[in-house]
Amino acid sequence: MSNSPNHFLEISQFDSATLNTILDDAQTMKDGRKGQPKGMVEADKPLAGKILAMIFEKPSTRTRVSFDVGMRQLGGETLVLSSADMQLGRGESIADTARVLSRFVDGIMIRTTGNEKLLELADAATVPVINALTDFSHPCQVMADMQTLREHKGDLSKLKLAWVGDFNNVTNSFIHASARFGFELDIAFPKEIEPNHDVLSWGRDNGAKITVGHDADAAAKNADCIVTDTWISMGDANDTGENKNLHNQFSPFQVNDALMDKAKGDALFMHCLPAHRNEEVTDKVMDGPQSVVFDEAENRLHAQKAILKFCMSET
Ligand code: CP
Ligand code: NVA
Repeated sequence: MSNSPNHFLEISQFDSATLNTILDDAQTMKDGRKGQPKGMVEADKPLAGKILAMIFEKPSTRTRVSFDVGMRQLGGETLVLSSADMQLGRGESIADTARVLSRFVDGIMIRTTGNEKLLELADAATVPVINALTDFSHPCQVMADMQTLREHKGDLSKLKLAWVGDFNNVTNSFIHASARFGFELDIAFPKEIEPNHDVLSWGRDNGAKITVGHDADAAAKNADCIVTDTWISMGDANDTGENKNLHNQFSPFQVNDALMDKAKGDALFMHCLPAHRNEEVTDKVMDGPQSVVFDEAENRLHAQKAILKFCMSET
């Protein structure tokens, strides 16, 4: 077993060539299985005999199902673990959990809260660790989004994206992606929200073409794609129910027909899902012809299969 596992922790960790190779593989696998049953295993079974443990400290639909189905399609198997049912839930350290799981499985995927937990896991694990969302980032989602954009629009370096709404974990991964894939990123969010200055600095230091402001219309102007996300992420201080102040802060950032009209005529609408319909996006936009949200969801499967192969095929 390798002493330095091939973790997939952040998009920022990799150069453009590596990320594009992963996306190429994702697209080849997607194209190669058109019309096949979802349970059909890839002919070369690249992860035969391998087991992925999936630890969830937060809820999930897409991540859980796409990693599970993806491993099966690659010839491997999965264990789905909820931290609440593990000794992790009653105080065993993340590092010890990593050391133990590394004796049983060939890879660990984790959805957790603080980024420090991901790093502690990756540091102690002797098998690859994959980041399936933290409070800081959501790199697997944004890799699927890059695949989706490439399919619909081609060369990413020629695109302008508008991110409107919250400044959250998905935004951070889009900033990482902007530096690595070369697209312009215009971010608009409520002035009451503090952006992640470290990530913005990292992006600028690494050549990302980022604009930051509080005007959704200005961000959307001439955009090839408008992207948004829920106004309240899992575990946010406001993740408890109705909050009228928050609603008032965010409502100017709703993606509706008027905002889509500010973008290019053929602009896409993207959202990682789950959506809170008629809050951050109207039904009309979400269900309209410019929306590619279910392509993004499907591409979680293909992009993550390529990530799983990248991380686990040689361990
Ligand atoms: N987009 C995403 O990660 O969805 P889930 O929370 O359902 O996994
Ligand atoms: N920003 C959202 C993404 C959900 C997939 C959250 O963290 O809840």
